Amino acid sequence: MTSSTAPHRGNLLILNGPNLNLLGTREPGIYGSTTLADVEQLTTVAAEAAGFSTTCLQSNHEGALVDAIHAARGNSVGIIINAGAYTHTSVALRDAISAVELPTVEVHISNVHQREEFRHHSFLSAVCSTVIVGAGVHGYALAVSALDNSLA
Ligand code: DQA
Repeated sequence: MTSSTAPHRGNLLILNGPNLNLLGTREPGIYGSTTLADVEQLTTVAAEAAGFSTTCLQSNHEGALVDAIHAARGNSVGIIINAGAYTHTSVALRDAISAVELPTVEVHISNVHQREEFRHHSFLSAVCSTVIVGAGVHGYALAVSALDNSLA
């Protein structure tokens, strides 16, 4: 986990789920060559420019992601989540997002709607304030912009 501090409208939790630690080498034709460290950096730069600090966490474990969402209550003012494949399977993540009542932006690097049918359904979208798909890693900066706007 990495954290930044900046003059402060509050903290944003930046959560990445399973296999996103492999960004940069994983299926670059779909996900590009940007690494997770680069993604966390670009998101933090965008967040700090808008006056937010960030906490960045990646985990391959569903329960760790649930725990991080719970911990955001009281510590963060918004969440950006790319839950990877758990997007399409996890009622637990959906319930966690619902429970903490923080504005949450769901991000997917690829356009999941152009891909296999099982990627078309998200358990998370209905409880997220914003959904961004298919903008590549720039989607994380767009997510910051969405929270900047909704938390104004
Ligand atoms: C993803 C899309 C998911 O379907 C996939 O399982 C991922 C990455 C994306 O960012 O495009 O791991 O969330």
